[in-house]
Amino acid sequence: MQLMRSDYTELTAHGRGYVTDLLKPDRTHDMLEAYGFAVTRSPAGTVSTEDAHREMAAIRADFGLREPYAPLLYRDRDAPLVTEVTRKAGSDHPAFHTGAAQGWHTDGLLEDIGTIRTTLLYCVRPAHGGGRTFLLNAGRVFDELRTEDPEAAEVLLRGTILGRRSTIPGAVREAVGPVFAELGDGHYATRYGEGQVERWYPKDAVEQKSLARALGYFRARRDDPDVRIDLLLQAGQCLIFRNDVLAHGRENFTDDPRCPRLLLRSLHTDAPGRTS
Ligand SMILES: [Fe+2]
Repeated sequence: MQLMRSDYTELTAHGRGYVTDLLKPDRTHDMLEAYGFAVTRSPAGTVSTEDAHREMAAIRADFGLREPYAPLLYRDRDAPLVTEVTRKAGSDHPAFHTGAAQGWHTDGLLEDIGTIRTTLLYCVRPAHGGGRTFLLNAGRVFDELRTEDPEAAEVLLRGTILGRRSTIPGAVREAVGPVFAELGDGHYATRYGEGQVERWYPKDAVEQKSLARALGYFRARRDDPDVRIDLLLQAGQCLIFRNDVLAHGRENFTDDPRCPRLLLRSLHTDAPGRTS
């Protein structure tokens, strides 16, 4: 999966994006296959929350995605399968319900690498200010690292290098796994992240140094527009992306309390494909 600057057309923000119409699924499918993400646009422009749920169901059907997946972290919490991502006073979720920036991560904190293959983010209302979503072609950065510093890259493939720990009160759990895994088609599955939840487990001083080089490499590369896209979703737009191959994050945002930012999110264990 290559992200090439010259291929991006319509801009939705300062970064580069590509918005396709809901009614032109072929372009959306092509975009997803080539880049691992696409943005659809509701023909209506603005939508109600009910419309958004309906349109998400239509998008799922269009891409042949099964019903949303309930992540392990929320299994016992009676959470809806399509989650409202919005600021909520009193919520105990450390990332969902604040306006703070969210560091690089992949969805599915406790799942094995590659389990959650697709994330849908539907924008009902954008923030008053900020709130861009960032996507990083992590597999490509890793591929480059493998060429430039194979020893550093090797550490990220080791099966016990990265623990991700839930910080929700009452649900302190940790899942350990690799940062990258080969998918066999030249691409890599990833659970790359650098934020509050990661615990790194180098096995010795040599590996510690290799790990530091690997993470430093990612820090140096991840602002490069060749491998990174910033999208500001507008009302009625839905971002579909391959959570198993791209890392993502979010810019901080401010709300107008009368119409706070509201996104709907669903997670899927299958990848979007053509249904016809
Ligand atoms: Fe996320």
